Amino acid sequence: MDENAIVLEDVTVKFNLYKENISGFKEYIIKKIKRELISEQFLALNGISLTIKKGDVVGLLGFNGAGKSTLLKTIAGVLQPTYGKVITNGKIAPLIELGAGFDMELTARENIYLNGAILGYSRRFLNEKFEEIIDFAEIEEFLDVPLKNYSSGMVARIGFSIATMVKPEILIIDEILSVGDYKFQEKCEKRIKMMLDDQTTVIIVSHSIQQIRDLCNKAIFINRGKILTQGDVESVCDQYMLYES
Ligand SMILES: Nc1ncnc2c1ncn2[C@@H]1O[C@H](COP(=O)(O)OP(=O)(O)OP(=O)(O)O)[C@@H](O)[C@H]1O
Ligand SMILES: [Mg+2]
Repeated sequence: MDENAIVLEDVTVKFNLYKENISGFKEYIIKKIKRELISEQFLALNGISLTIKKGDVVGLLGFNGAGKSTLLKTIAGVLQPTYGKVITNGKIAPLIELGAGFDMELTARENIYLNGAILGYSRRFLNEKFEEIIDFAEIEEFLDVPLKNYSSGMVARIGFSIATMVKPEILIIDEILSVGDYKFQEKCEKRIKMMLDDQTTVIIVSHSIQQIRDLCNKAIFINRGKILTQGDVESVCDQYMLYES
């Protein structure tokens, strides 16, 4: 296990899909009691087994609804698999949903402390790193503005800046890079490339194949909750581009 950062064994995630249009909680309860609620089980992940080695930078490819975000959430421990096993080895910094872990009513300054605490950093440590975090995010002028008045790119900048301030052992990125402008994307890419030399394991979802080719050494292509192919980044990207569903 020492050289492995992430191991998944037969990970399956089932969701209940309610096909009816239920107009409210009351109706839901009544239908549930009367057993009139028709739900279909839906396998968002269907028996995923994979091993990611320490220091790998892995691109996760797949069409909309393929199960990429669900997979990242199970790796981050935000979502428990219905069956199967997730083993991770190292401190994880998840950048999964824009603003996850942020309180939009609070200011950027307050959120930096809040999010830092969630990631396990002490107040003293955050005081030391504060300047560096806001410098990288370039949000000095807006420090005391509530996040609800930020643009989505600005929120992503803070999230990325905090999560990568200390090199995490495992960094999980779900499409957040795409909301930054090209200058910020370049900055993020540079930081991710630095992690490449540094044994940080990175797993990235991006719909930009160019970004995946530039940043990653490995890739995994998932479709309808299953792995179709995995391995060297160039060949998996080629297969993804040629795939006809
Ligand atoms: N909480 C949930 N309840 C029910 N179904 C869900 C839930 N979360 C995800 N799904 C379903 O699981 C499937 C996979 O969703 P997921 O968000 O993992 O896709 P994705 O690959 O990240 O897609 P995208 O490229 O659009 O971000 C979708 O069909 C989605 O409708
Ligand atoms: Mg997604």
